[in-house]
Amino acid sequence: MKTQLFATKTVAEIEAAESADAAGHKLNRTLSATALTMLGIGGIIGTGIFVLTGVAAAQHAGPALVLSFIVAGIGCALAGLCYAEFAAMVPVSGSAYSYTYATLGEGIAWFIGWNLILEYLFAVATVSVGWSGYVNRLLIEFGLHIPYALSHAPFMQAAPDSFSVMHSGAILNVPAVLIVAALATICYIGIKQSSQFNTVIVSLKVAVVVLFIVLGMGYIQHANWHPFIPKNIAPGEYGWSGVFAASGVIFFAYIGFDAISTTAQEAKNPQRDMPIGILSSLVICTLLYVITSAVLTGMVHYTKLNVSAPIALALQTYPQLHWFSVPVDLGAILGMTSVMLVMTIAQARIFYAMAQDGLLPKAFAKIHPKFRTPSTGTVVTGVCAAVVGGLFPVGLLGELVSIGTLLAFVTVCIGVLVLRYTRPDLKRPFKVPAPWFTCIAGALVCGFMIWNLPHSTWVRLVVWTAVGVVVYVFYGYRHSKLHRPGPGTATEAE
Ligand code: ALA
Repeated sequence: MKTQLFATKTVAEIEAAESADAAGHKLNRTLSATALTMLGIGGIIGTGIFVLTGVAAAQHAGPALVLSFIVAGIGCALAGLCYAEFAAMVPVSGSAYSYTYATLGEGIAWFIGWNLILEYLFAVATVSVGWSGYVNRLLIEFGLHIPYALSHAPFMQAAPDSFSVMHSGAILNVPAVLIVAALATICYIGIKQSSQFNTVIVSLKVAVVVLFIVLGMGYIQHANWHPFIPKNIAPGEYGWSGVFAASGVIFFAYIGFDAISTTAQEAKNPQRDMPIGILSSLVICTLLYVITSAVLTGMVHYTKLNVSAPIALALQTYPQLHWFSVPVDLGAILGMTSVMLVMTIAQARIFYAMAQDGLLPKAFAKIHPKFRTPSTGTVVTGVCAAVVGGLFPVGLLGELVSIGTLLAFVTVCIGVLVLRYTRPDLKRPFKVPAPWFTCIAGALVCGFMIWNLPHSTWVRLVVWTAVGVVVYVFYGYRHSKLHRPGPGTATEAE
């Protein structure tokens, strides 16, 4: 078992295993650099900026939320550079899971794959609940009302941060289920269709964010920015510790750029376009986030921002801007829609890659003969996310999404450095600059953000990992293709 846990696959083996399913069907190569950048922005801008910014400013950072966005942005930029090197060098669907298989061995690869499920699948479920809330808000503005029983989950947390759940009196969060089902259907039909749908949504949501910045700039009260870093009153409440605590909260806003790397096998020219897609979507979103948070905290004093729709609140503060509230609600809904779309695409491809290695059942490794998508993985992602989003209290899972993602980032940063030494000969179309600094700093900054997450989140991660170990021991380990080498599959370590 020890040997198998640490056995790696060669890059060539990974590419061979993930290039086609057992019937020889391949994924469709249709994505350009622009489409990849749009997918990145589609996965990034959503709940984070439209929902979490208010609480992060009010409870942790004050106007220095701008610095929190810069800190989280630096961690993501360093990890993004490492993702870019891997995605150009090993352009396969498994993303961080496959990169880890090539560098740190099957055991850690399983752990990362299992964590990516936490990131992508639970992100779809979490965001579907936020989406449902925003749709309800908007419908109420138009005099329409979905009954409570059909717009909320039947289970709710007994207390914040608690594991115990109680009945809420509702039956099913129907809008959450419907949106997940609709998006999974688009993802099932084709990557090109999904990408075109995403491009339309992204253009609209970015237009809303830019318009908010342009309109809001005229209403900034400079007094709201003083003091820029409010005095620390307790650990994580203002001062620099508040800035770092807020960076852990708003890290969620950056999740998504890594999802592009799961579409590497559907990119027309992955060696060139993967780095462009990953890095340009990250740069664009970081700029939008930093400017939006500056405008927001300039328009409204941070102490008033403890709400779930902070941008709408800022607009309601100024009667001249009331008219823009409905477009902002629409922007938030569209933002969350594209996040779910991109995460569904990513999850299905992670399932596909893990199944190709035998670590998950074969059905996940099937590519639809007509639509050329990982169809089973897409259906399973849609069904699981709809069940979780429709029935369960996802507040419990939100921070798990962040911790799962951060762990993947740390592993990718370390993996780049490992592969530079174990396989210096590999062709690297994109190279991380100053690798010792970038990789180690990336791992440290992302590790620091994990440290800043509530310890209860770590406990949940341990529980999730324990479940993963059981699944690996009873299924993955026994079915791994490392056990049964065959054509195009793995052998023991190089
Ligand atoms: N970054 C994505 C969002 O903020 C997950 O919704």
